[in-house]
Amino acid sequence: MKRLDGKSAIITGAARGIGRAFAAAYVREGATVAIADIDLAAAERAAAEIGGGAYAVALDVTDQASIDAAVGAVVERSGGIDILINNAAVFDLAPVTEITRGSYDRLFAINVAGTLFTLQAVARRMIEQGRGGKIINMASQAGRRGEPLVAVYCATKAAVISLTQSAGLNLIRHGINVNAIAPGVVDGEHWDGVDALFARHEGLRPGEKKRMAGEAVPYGRMGRAEDLTGMAVFLASAEADYIVAQTYNVDGGNWMS
Ligand SMILES: NC(=O)c1ccc[n+]([C@@H]2O[C@H](COP(=O)([O-])OP(=O)(O)OC[C@H]3O[C@@H](n4cnc5c(N)ncnc54)[C@H](O)[C@@H]3O)[C@@H](O)[C@H]2O)c1
Repeated sequence: MKRLDGKSAIITGAARGIGRAFAAAYVREGATVAIADIDLAAAERAAAEIGGGAYAVALDVTDQASIDAAVGAVVERSGGIDILINNAAVFDLAPVTEITRGSYDRLFAINVAGTLFTLQAVARRMIEQGRGGKIINMASQAGRRGEPLVAVYCATKAAVISLTQSAGLNLIRHGINVNAIAPGVVDGEHWDGVDALFARHEGLRPGEKKRMAGEAVPYGRMGRAEDLTGMAVFLASAEADYIVAQTYNVDGGNWMS
């Protein structure tokens, strides 16, 4: 018996990076998984490569009609939804004096409103189904403390931690567990972009910020997407039924609370 046998999952932003690794891990554990991403072509490639119970769904988490359509498509395909991972997010950085309204609005629309309204649509469905569910939000160590150049992204991830607490407390009466994972620094396309932004704003050579970030991790290296899959499977499984409204650091020791 696999740990997620017969479960239907939807993972936002799963065409690449951490979400994609989650999708592969969930398929290995017996779930069917909707790889829901704004980049449908990449989602289709990921689903084909993962195989098994993986399939692609178009989703823009900033668009309510798109959220409703994606939830409808998953219900039609898999007969319901048992697990949601709110994983889609974007990053930006700038000194406080240079933050633009455009950057602020984009990050809050995707990282915060996208998380809340996808959670809402899936929770409504889970309540109708009457068999509970598991919702996992992707926070970050960036939500635990501010950083000089990262005010807006840090604020979005602090908001995700707070939403996880309130939604977790509100939805547990329906048997829906809402929890979050706070990764540290995880190598991949996302961090290639972060590195390039730091290079521009701090005058670093390409790759230097990444090297420094990796060396600062107590474990001794940057994280890999696969380092997070154990927590994602656990929080989606029946073993986590009594865990409510928590955010877990999976960061090689970067953060302590
Ligand atoms: N990589 C890290 O170091 C790190 C650290 C802490 C937290 N996180 C968090 O983990 C999660 C995954 O990060 P990642 O590194 O895999 O990111 P990534 O940039 O590699 O992937 C993000 C995915 O989200 C999709 N996406 C963007 N906007 C979307 C939208 N409007 N609707 C639907 N999908 C959209 C992208 O197409 C992409 O496939 C994010 O929530 C991120 O904030 C990452």
